[in-house]
Amino acid sequence: MKAVAKAHTNIALIKYWGKRNDELILPMNNSLSLTLDHFYTTTEVQFDEALQTDTFIFNGETASDSESAKISSYLDRIRQFAGVQMYAAVRSVNHVPTSAGFASSASGFAALAAASTKALGLDLDRKTLSILARQGSGSACRSVFGGFAEWEKGSRTDGSDSYAVPIMSKTEWDVRVLSVLLESNEKPISSRKGMKRTVETSPFYSGWLEAVDHELKEIKTAIRTKDFERLGKVAEANALKMHATMLGSHPPFTYWQSSTMAVMEEVQHLRDKGIQAYYTIDAGPNVKILCLPEDEQKIRDELENLEMVKGIYGCRPGPGIEYKEKLP
Ligand code: PMV
Repeated sequence: MKAVAKAHTNIALIKYWGKRNDELILPMNNSLSLTLDHFYTTTEVQFDEALQTDTFIFNGETASDSESAKISSYLDRIRQFAGVQMYAAVRSVNHVPTSAGFASSASGFAALAAASTKALGLDLDRKTLSILARQGSGSACRSVFGGFAEWEKGSRTDGSDSYAVPIMSKTEWDVRVLSVLLESNEKPISSRKGMKRTVETSPFYSGWLEAVDHELKEIKTAIRTKDFERLGKVAEANALKMHATMLGSHPPFTYWQSSTMAVMEEVQHLRDKGIQAYYTIDAGPNVKILCLPEDEQKIRDELENLEMVKGIYGCRPGPGIEYKEKLP
């Protein structure tokens, strides 16, 4: 009754922003991401009749009550899905600098969905795994797959048609993502809260929804034809639109800090010098820069001159869910 699974984080190039159902985590729009090789979570789950409660060890230490409660309520869904009542011991090792503000919920819930179902002897297809991962954290449904993946929002109320599908495998196109670590104060507003406020109060939200379908079509053409400039332009424009919806919310908010904007400006300077670099930003201050392998070093050299840059992590396209023998 034990299994270990490894899942990588992903960066959305067309963002998921807004839910139509909070409980099942059903999104308002399709989104598209690239799974990254550098950041991942490995999780071991062991179900045991003898346990009186779920236990959760995170990076070698007992998790906080609030973290444990989140994991336990997710395991309730898995227990209900599998028709069992046993508690589980969960051990998770995160190769994502979480404290630095890089999101780990995508790799975390994708690994937990895979390890817990496998531990219960279920042999699930990727679509079902993606549906289950989605119910932990929306973006996790895309981390089931490697390379580029699209989360189809679906239309059913039960969420049975809301899952990710692979668009291009990780070996087909070597694009790079530089994750730029900036000053990392604790997030003022979780993505969950931020989306909710935006959907409920921002007059710009309808504009976001209007634009996103065309941007998805555009980015899928860019991927199919390996047109990097087209990919970068649409990804950057999509990120800016998502952040614009927040400025229109009531009360207004933003995840950007002055360092965020300094890096955005630097990327623009790089482009003015003929280097193909584009940025994208999630629900936090850090910036991810999309580039091609031949430009990676030049971009690093420029960024290292900026005093607010605390670290640069180079990422390549990464794999989907993998099962392992044991925790590393
Ligand atoms: O899955 P969550 O709740 O962590 O939300 C992710 C939201 C964004 O990172 C901003 C966009 C995305 O599609 O990943």
